Amino acid sequence: MDILIGLQWGDEGKGKFIDLISQEYDMIARFNGGANAGHSIYHNNQRVTLKILPSGIFYPHIKNIIGTGVVIEPSALKAEIDQLQSLISDADLRKRIIVSKKAHLVLPTYGYWDMYQEESALYRTIGTTKNGIAHTYSSKILRQNVRVEDMFSKDFNTDVFQIISRQYRELQYLGQKMPSLDELYGNFMRDCELLKQLHIADTEVLLNEALKNNKKVLAEGAQATMLDIDHGTYPYVTSSHTIAAAACVSLGVSPRLVDKIYGVTKAYCTRVGHGIFPTEIIGSLADDLRVRGAEFGSNTKRPRRIGWLDIPALKYAIMLNGVTHLILTKADILNGMAQIPVCTHYEINKQRSSLASLSSTTDEMKPIWKYLPGWDVPFAQISDATQLPNELTAFLSFIEQELDTPIKYLSTGPKREEMINLV
Ligand code: IMO
Ligand code: MG
Repeated sequence: MDILIGLQWGDEGKGKFIDLISQEYDMIARFNGGANAGHSIYHNNQRVTLKILPSGIFYPHIKNIIGTGVVIEPSALKAEIDQLQSLISDADLRKRIIVSKKAHLVLPTYGYWDMYQEESALYRTIGTTKNGIAHTYSSKILRQNVRVEDMFSKDFNTDVFQIISRQYRELQYLGQKMPSLDELYGNFMRDCELLKQLHIADTEVLLNEALKNNKKVLAEGAQATMLDIDHGTYPYVTSSHTIAAAACVSLGVSPRLVDKIYGVTKAYCTRVGHGIFPTEIIGSLADDLRVRGAEFGSNTKRPRRIGWLDIPALKYAIMLNGVTHLILTKADILNGMAQIPVCTHYEINKQRSSLASLSSTTDEMKPIWKYLPGWDVPFAQISDATQLPNELTAFLSFIEQELDTPIKYLSTGPKREEMINLV
C-alpha cells in the first residue's frame, strides 16, 4: 500500500496528484477527516471539489474506499454523489464506492456545536470548517456515537433521536439558532437512505485481501501533517490523525505492507483558520499571491493565509511521515519574483534550530531566511524537466538537499497534465 499525505496545513494539491497517478491503482482509500476536506481535481476541463469521496472516483477501474477513520455526513455525501453524477451520464458512480461499516456518522447537531463554539466567548476560536468534525470524533471517543453499520439496526432511529434531541436541548439552552428538531432528524434519516444503498463492507478485510492478491492500493490523506491532532499545531488543528501512520490504523492495514509514502508540499505555505504561522506574509504581497494562487478555501471560500516555504517544519513533517517521494506544487505561482525567501532555520529562545514542530507554545520563533533567485517563464509551454529554467532547477535541488528526499513530481498548473515527472 502506498500513502499520500499533505506536509503543511492542507490544500497542497493532494487531489490533483492522486488524480494523475490513479491509473496505477486498483483502490484509493480515504483514511481520515470528512467533509472538511476539499480535494480539487479536473474532470473534462471542469474543476470539481471532492470532500468525502476519494480522488479516484472518475476512473471506472478504481474502487474508492471510504475507510473506517473517515467521518461521514450523509447529506454531504449525497450532495457530492449527486453533483458528480450529473457530470457523468454513462456510469453509476455509486458502484465505484465502498464504505466501511465502522465509519462514524456526523449527526445533524454536530455542525451547530462548531458554529456555537466559534462564536461563543466561552470557547477557544479555532476557525473550523463548521462541518462538525470535532464533535463526531469526540462522540466516537466518548463511545456515544453511531456508525454506518448501525443504520441497519432496529434501534438506529431511537439512538439517533436520543443523541440529537439531547444535544438540541443543550444548544437551544445556549441560544444557538437551528431549524426544528423534526426537520434535522427527518432530513438526516432521509439522507441515510442513500448511504444504505451503497456497498457497505468490512473494508479492512477487502483491503487486506486485495493487497494479498497484489492489487495496488493508495491511501489518501485529508488535511495535512501540521493539522494532526497530536503532532500538528495544537489546538489549531483538525480532530483526526493526518500523518501516514494513521492510514494503517484507519484502514486496518499493517505497517509492514506500506511501500511508498508521497508527501505533497507547495513551493510556499498556506493555512486557513487560526494558529501559529511563523513564515506568514502580511500585506499586499500576500494579497497578490493569494489571488495568483487562487488561495481561497475550496470548501469554505475563506481567504487562505500565505507564507514562505518553511524548511524546518517540512523536515519535521518528513520525519513524522517517513516520506519517500516529494511532490512540489505551485512553483508557477511564484513566477516573476526576483528573489524567493525560504526559511531554513529558526532561532528559538536564542538557539538555532533546523527542525521545528511549530508547537503553539514556543515563545519566540524567529525565521532565518535564505533568498534564492527567482524565475520567470511561460509554464504552460514546459512539458519536461529539461525545459525548466536554471533558477527553478536550483530551487528544487536546494529543497531536495535540505530535506534529503527526492522531488518526484513538479506541478506546473492546476490541470492533470500540468505535471512534470522529475525522477
Ligand atoms: P484538505 O484535505 C486546509 C482546518 C480548518 C481549521 C482546522 C480545524 O482540503 O487539505 P475542522 O473543520 O477540521 O474541525 O477545522 O483545520 N482544515 C483544513 N485546512 N485544508 C483542509 O483540508 C482542512 N480541513 C480542516 O481551516 O483551521
Ligand atoms: Mg483543500
